[in-house]
Amino acid sequence: MTDQVLIFDTTLRDGEQSPGATMSHHEKLEIAEMLDDMGVDIIEAGFPIASEGDFNAVSEISKRAKTSTICGLSRANFKDIDRCWDAVKHAKSPRIHTFIGTSPLHRAIPNLDMDQMAERIHDCVTHARNLCDNVQWSSMDATRTEWDFLKRTVDIAIKAGATTINIPDTVGYTEPVESADLIKRLIAEVDRADTVIFSTHCHNDLGMATANSLAAVAGGARQIECTINGLGERAGNTALEEVVMAMKVRSDVMPYGTKIDTRKIMNISRRVAAVSGFAVQFNKAIVGKNAFAHESGIHQDGMLKNRETFEVMRPEDVGLSGTSLPLGKHSGRAALRDKLEKLGYDMGDNELKDVFVRFKDLADRKKEVFDDDLIALVRQNEGED
Ligand code: KIV
Ligand code: ZN
Repeated sequence: MTDQVLIFDTTLRDGEQSPGATMSHHEKLEIAEMLDDMGVDIIEAGFPIASEGDFNAVSEISKRAKTSTICGLSRANFKDIDRCWDAVKHAKSPRIHTFIGTSPLHRAIPNLDMDQMAERIHDCVTHARNLCDNVQWSSMDATRTEWDFLKRTVDIAIKAGATTINIPDTVGYTEPVESADLIKRLIAEVDRADTVIFSTHCHNDLGMATANSLAAVAGGARQIECTINGLGERAGNTALEEVVMAMKVRSDVMPYGTKIDTRKIMNISRRVAAVSGFAVQFNKAIVGKNAFAHESGIHQDGMLKNRETFEVMRPEDVGLSGTSLPLGKHSGRAALRDKLEKLGYDMGDNELKDVFVRFKDLADRKKEVFDDDLIALVRQNEGED
């Protein structure tokens, strides 16, 4: 089994499904270009049957993509699949992704029994495969599907020609041990498992999407489906930046490679936040405003002596210019001295002591003390000397 994990980004499909996250045609083209440029293997560009706008965006992204495979989503029916193919067929490397909900709750919606659903999967995957060499099958709500039926759906999809088998945790219900075991068991028990790539697609309802995706990789999955900033319905999808950086930083225990240029992460994170209107929470892993910021005196002092004391990765590796040491009421003298030196003030211990008293007084009244505040404090102090 290869150690390369494919990154399948669905910001433009599952991410955009997030209520209120709609992006314009031009914004979608811009994000797709950034994804292509940062090394994403597969871009799920939209759901072509959903609207004229989605169809046009997927077609245009397909025409423009340089290296990424372009994928469109379709329900398991011929009309959806044909529409999807019409949109992705322009790509150098197109993929049709087709799915149906296989759990008891989801089977009840189209009111199909197991045999009828099995036949539908066979017919739809066969139809998609007659159009395109690259076909992904998803058994939606796989983690709440009975084992025997899940195995049956995957067996059928592989026999009908699927090249990727996606195992979605549609409602963020699984947990890491179960996630790893499910993929491991499928690979061990389905026929011709070695002819396809197993994929994981996790949602974050219980806050375990990243852990579940990485556990699935440990179980043998070699494609992770994810979105920038974890954008997605309800609590969102697995965040691309989290799984990619986790595998990079902890390659000692997760020895898997991706093609992602991680230095492009911050830029695309900011752009997705801007175009979707979904601001990134300050303490979000990797891309939050505070992910590389240290305010407390002990942490700032440690960081000034050795950055590894409180950081497990380099901010430059995700595209930031460096660590930030914002000054606030928890900051200490070492960080104040460092900041004043950067502002051009080289002061002796006594003067620093006086400025530090004024600084603490101000910091008690203000959340963050900025460069202008410090300059004013130094001037005041000089005026009184
Ligand atoms: O969450 C899910 O199950 C999906 C499928 C369409 C893959 O998004
Ligand atoms: Zn999903």
